[in-house]
Amino acid sequence: MSVVIVVGAQWGDEGKGKVVDLFTERADLVVRYGGGANAGHTLVIDGKKLVTHLVPSGVCHPGKSCVLGDGMVIEPHTLLEEIAQCQARGLLSRGELLIGLGAHVILPYHKLIDALREDRGAKTGRALGTTRRGIGPAYEAKAARRGVRVRDLARPARLRELVAANLDELSPLIDHLGGTHPSQAEVDRWVDDALAAGRALAPHTGDAGRHVARAIASGLHVLFEGAQGCLLDLDHGTYPYVTSSSTIAAGACQSAGIGPTAIDAVVGITKAYATRVGAGPFPTELHGEAGERLRKAGGEYGATTGRPRRCGWLDLPALRMGARLSGMTSLALTKLDVLAGLPEVSVCVAYQVDGQELDEPPTDPDDIARAEPVFTSFPGWGTLPSTARDVADLPGPARAYVETIERLAGVSFCLVSVGPDRNETIRLHDPFAAPR
Ligand code: IMP
Repeated sequence: MSVVIVVGAQWGDEGKGKVVDLFTERADLVVRYGGGANAGHTLVIDGKKLVTHLVPSGVCHPGKSCVLGDGMVIEPHTLLEEIAQCQARGLLSRGELLIGLGAHVILPYHKLIDALREDRGAKTGRALGTTRRGIGPAYEAKAARRGVRVRDLARPARLRELVAANLDELSPLIDHLGGTHPSQAEVDRWVDDALAAGRALAPHTGDAGRHVARAIASGLHVLFEGAQGCLLDLDHGTYPYVTSSSTIAAGACQSAGIGPTAIDAVVGITKAYATRVGAGPFPTELHGEAGERLRKAGGEYGATTGRPRRCGWLDLPALRMGARLSGMTSLALTKLDVLAGLPEVSVCVAYQVDGQELDEPPTDPDDIARAEPVFTSFPGWGTLPSTARDVADLPGPARAYVETIERLAGVSFCLVSVGPDRNETIRLHDPFAAPR
């Protein structure tokens, strides 16, 4: 087993950072494969926090190589800041980062359009609640075949031409959205800044696809790090309340340019409850005090935007859907400790729509909006020992909760996290080892 994909099983923010960091111990190469600085990974190492948006969470292990795949959309200045932040902590000191030359670049006008749309959406009630990082507009440009790629940052004339052509096309849209057009001086500065960033990033750029393929061919352990979660997938998520990339496991193959037969295992990360940031259906959402309690206990505020996350009970139909979409071979359960102290813990086991019981969410957004979650409740557990290293160390009710989720999700756990630190973890199975 040498190629493992880690994906978020819900709507993102499942605690992938910690899990990827742990799995990186056994990996040689960590590849981030989709999205951009809309993601935010909070890593806690020896009690100290490091937040990354673009650099893979595997960065915390000196000497391991990190790759940003061609399927990503990269904001060059954010990436440079993150590299500097890592280097200040003694990480990425030996050029262990490779940025795909085919990855797309986020430029200020992508962020401008994203923000204008969100502002207008806020007035019309149609906002998606994006991170405003320019993700959608950058992927739109890519699909329209007029995007700027990392390789273009080394070609001044081409970059200027591309930016001018893009702004020319976007001009009526900026008018339509009531935005202010950038002055020529501003556009020139954007281009100069992008070229300067391109020069600084150049030593880290290369053919990411071949690099990953060679690593796999030579038997190295490769870990693909997904961003966001399966239910935010552009094709299969809760459209239109999704991100603009492929967040499911298949996205790893597409982004890195490798075939699906290279993949040995897919680990889905799920929180012991559910959260969602931005707009969109969330049938198990808890409002009022109950939601606030989970938000506070779990520190559920966006690592990228600081927005309070919507919180609710674990949604098994959604988890089953994520497991199906990504072909998960195991699950990692995170933040079990956050539920400690609740008198009762509930889980949605099915949905009811028009008197029919469904074991996965309906695909029509109107149906999801009126779906009634069917809950099962568990007695709570007072405290959860962060020293637990085996499921048997958990208090009885917590153990019953974990075992029931595993049974009803139909996928077994490889890991249960009982606290934020690296060592506060029950490790059940190494995804790089042969299947059980
Ligand atoms: P975008 O990716 O910024 O276009 O945002 C689209 C939707 O995906 C919004 O609801 C965001 O809140 C959500 N989203 C994007 N990235 C993340 C993430 O890393 N975690 C959780 N939600 C995200």
